[in-house]
Amino acid sequence: MHKKAPRLAAIHPPKMPLSSFRLLQMVVDNPIKAWPQAIYRQHLYRSSVLGHDTIYVMAPDLIRTVLLDEADNFKKGEIVRRALGPALGDAILTADGSRWRWQRRSVAAIFRQERVRGFLPAMIAAAERTRNRWHSLPSGTEIDVAQEMMRTTFDIILNTVVPGRGNIETELMKHSVTHYLEPTSWIVALAMIGAPSWVPYPGIYRARRGRKQLHCMLESLIGQAKQSPADRNDLLSLLLNATDPETGQSMTAMDVRDNLLTFITAGHETTALALTWTLYLLSLHPEVERRVKREIAAATGGGPVRPTHIDALGYTHQVIQEAMRLYPPAALILREARRDVTLGTEHVRAGTSVYVPVYAVHRHETLWREPDRFDPSRFEPAAAQARDRYSYLPFGAGPRICIGQNFALLEAAAVLATLLSSFQLRIRPSHNPEPRLRVTLRPAGGMPMRIGIESGPSSGQEILVKT
Ligand code: HEM
Repeated sequence: MHKKAPRLAAIHPPKMPLSSFRLLQMVVDNPIKAWPQAIYRQHLYRSSVLGHDTIYVMAPDLIRTVLLDEADNFKKGEIVRRALGPALGDAILTADGSRWRWQRRSVAAIFRQERVRGFLPAMIAAAERTRNRWHSLPSGTEIDVAQEMMRTTFDIILNTVVPGRGNIETELMKHSVTHYLEPTSWIVALAMIGAPSWVPYPGIYRARRGRKQLHCMLESLIGQAKQSPADRNDLLSLLLNATDPETGQSMTAMDVRDNLLTFITAGHETTALALTWTLYLLSLHPEVERRVKREIAAATGGGPVRPTHIDALGYTHQVIQEAMRLYPPAALILREARRDVTLGTEHVRAGTSVYVPVYAVHRHETLWREPDRFDPSRFEPAAAQARDRYSYLPFGAGPRICIGQNFALLEAAAVLATLLSSFQLRIRPSHNPEPRLRVTLRPAGGMPMRIGIESGPSSGQEILVKT
């Protein structure tokens, strides 16, 4: 008999269009809940809130037009700049045009596949620190896996992009990043109604303090690096030595600071969330979890995880991909039409917000069979190849595709392999981690899980595994 699939945390979109007031309320609370049901069925959807036009693009060929073929007609735009500009400046993630191009070229070297592989020992070492921390906890302890994964990936990003650089106050930096990003939904809602950027919003002072602290920490790091310019090949050195091939200009200390901050923020929270949602799904699908564990054990021979083992984790990789389909950490890709353009049969006026709602594309009725079901076999090589490239976009596409994609995938596999060879995690049964969009897709209320192992199929008893 077929076992009933577990009910997974998901968004239930409004069936009817919402009033402008209700819509704005929802945008602040959880913008993804304000997305209309139609975008899970239609190819293109227009909306207008208080005179601000938005077009949602779900058809893969039209997504390709926006992100690749006519990428020059669709810039990052006002909302992105307002939400992220104050902290990230005009750096690689937020800049447009020639300013973006030379920054992207300058840092591309560090994210080449062969170089990123060199980071694997640091990734495994950070995962082992998390494993050791968990080993010291009393049996059956409940932990917030979302927090734990943030801590682990933060450890990794600092030990890879700025290794051995001064004494960074990790906890303070992590809190500052969180405080800075917290009020983003307010900023987006205010931008949507055309409010001027000086209008205050809840959390503004904490966000400013967070930004100031981050800037101070990074500026002191840059100052130290400039004083002792050793010939190093880390991201900080690359940024300090980068020159614009068109103008010969090098980066100012502010450019370096903003790019460093971009890598630290863009690089750790997203991967932490991919891991958090993967562990959530595994806890609800023990048969998939068993297969992943078997694969890890076969690759490692039961010993510690080593960089050479990662390539043998094909099924684990499929599981991570399927987790990022159901819960894409970057659930919305935002653009703005730079000029009047035609998209399919639609005329799009300059200034219109263009949304690629990745969460909805990944659950679109016409693109996926049983879209809400967790099924890693969708990412078997043949099945993945047969699909339209633009129906699966966890890392975006086109020239602005995530520069850290290879980094993130290796990191996720290394962390999972290290932790799953020692532990089994189970979600608190009463907890429903609703996906909540806060720049990234976080579980509302965190991800409370118990560390342990089921001692038998019928006992339901849990004990802490110590291997
Ligand atoms: C699972 C983890 C990750 C996900 C889901 C993710 C997702 C994305 C997406 C969707 C974009 C494109 C945004 C757009 O087109 O508007 C992007 C851009 C970017 N990502 Fe990632 N990312 C991840 C990990 C990382 C890591 C580990 C790093 C760096 C260490 C990183 C650095 C960046 C940067 C710098 C950009 C801007 C690229 C540009 O505009 O040229 N990301 N990411």
